[in-house]
Amino acid sequence: MVSRVIPVEPFDLVLFGATGDLAQRKILPGLYHRFEVGQMPEDARIIGTARSDMDSDAFREQLRASMQEFAPGFEKDTLDRFLTHVDYVPVDALGAAGWDTLSKSLRDDVVRAFYLSVGPKLFSGIAQRLHENGLATPDSRIVVEKPFGNDLASAKALNEGLRACFEEHQIYRIDHYLGKETVQNLMALRFANSLFEPLWNSTHVDHVQITVAETVGVEGRGAYYDQSGAMRDMIQNHLVQLLCLTAMEPPSKFAPNAVRDEKVKVIEALEPVVQADIARGQYRAEKGESGYVDHVGNPASRTESFIALKAHIGNWRWAGVPFYLRTGKRLRARESEIAVFFRDPPHTIFPNVGPLHGNVLVIRLQPDEGITLRTTIKDPGPGGFRLSDVALDMSFADALGADVRAQDAYERLIMDVIRGDQTLFMRGDEAEAAWAWVDPIIHGWEERGDRPSRYDQGSSGPEEALMLMHRDGRRWRQIGG
Ligand code: BG6
Repeated sequence: MVSRVIPVEPFDLVLFGATGDLAQRKILPGLYHRFEVGQMPEDARIIGTARSDMDSDAFREQLRASMQEFAPGFEKDTLDRFLTHVDYVPVDALGAAGWDTLSKSLRDDVVRAFYLSVGPKLFSGIAQRLHENGLATPDSRIVVEKPFGNDLASAKALNEGLRACFEEHQIYRIDHYLGKETVQNLMALRFANSLFEPLWNSTHVDHVQITVAETVGVEGRGAYYDQSGAMRDMIQNHLVQLLCLTAMEPPSKFAPNAVRDEKVKVIEALEPVVQADIARGQYRAEKGESGYVDHVGNPASRTESFIALKAHIGNWRWAGVPFYLRTGKRLRARESEIAVFFRDPPHTIFPNVGPLHGNVLVIRLQPDEGITLRTTIKDPGPGGFRLSDVALDMSFADALGADVRAQDAYERLIMDVIRGDQTLFMRGDEAEAAWAWVDPIIHGWEERGDRPSRYDQGSSGPEEALMLMHRDGRRWRQIGG
């Protein structure tokens, strides 16, 4: 099945931090792929900016080298044509140099977007410079990367800085999880089918498990990560977003504010988390492998590379249904999923078959994106009557064919910026609400000086995470099972 590619309007996309890792690894290759399939119109332009003093030819050569590494399947002719759309202007983000040249290079009659692939410390300053130089026109868009602050106060300050120069409808806060195909499919599954929604509540759902497990460690990002930890780096944004899409009420339409209003309501309904419902861990050094503290260069670090917690949503739909969130680095497998556990059948008519298991709906985000529904059936054969759990399994790649080429989340999100569609971006109040929930949890363990416990690399995390579930008479789904 081949999806229709509708070209977007002509645009000038100014990419701040264009020589940085994210730009070279994700954003520019993502734009190349959109060009390759014909979504970028002929008169679209990408203007890279950074402090490095180089000309457009040198920047294109740098990008060509990055493509070898990050998008090795590219076609040389297509890349040559793509590069004719790419320019470079050296700009001192907070100084005066380069702004004049940048101004002169922009067109008035096309969509104008400024993508800030830089640290949050630069967001407000760049927004200010764009404003002072008359570049923040009413139709222009500004895109900012995560992390959107590191607590509620800093997120508020960022919102103020951006809103001093741009209207909320011009601000696109990226959470790349929202650009993942299966995350959007969660909304399709819930709101384009009538099968699940009647069961999607505390009467029928026992609990929900949301897992984002990674095999990578924090090597190379130690300075940032040690100030953040799994709570700020993953839970506050990606896992809270997954929780919102799983738990929100049906919006009246698939439109930016309708969807985001519903998500904010979920975040605001999240109850405070008690310490006993949190397990934090740090991967240890072992068998010649360095551990977390070596990777961040801080032997005394108390930052967690793993966290599991039990959240409750205080509203009519979800009262009493725990949402278990779990994420960590250096775990057994790279695996992200949302698993909705339905309640056990109330009564069994089958004698001698042992306890019946409820159905489980698993939405797999990565790898092998797809949906599985665990159902109970009769074991085949004559004789006794035995039951087995089997999976109704659907892999998107098998069901939909090659078109589901692992399209990167950024491709979708950048095109949405050009289209002017904010549905898959965080609104300012949403980012603040998530921090307002997370902040007291972090303050709690900081005040007590809690240390995360250690876990083995390649495991499922620390023992405490297992205990968190055992205490409730439940089990985590196996990572890499
Ligand atoms: C980023 C985090 O936002 O998401 C990283 O900062 C994490 O620590 C990454 O590794 C995970 O993204 P993905 O798309 O690989 O699951």
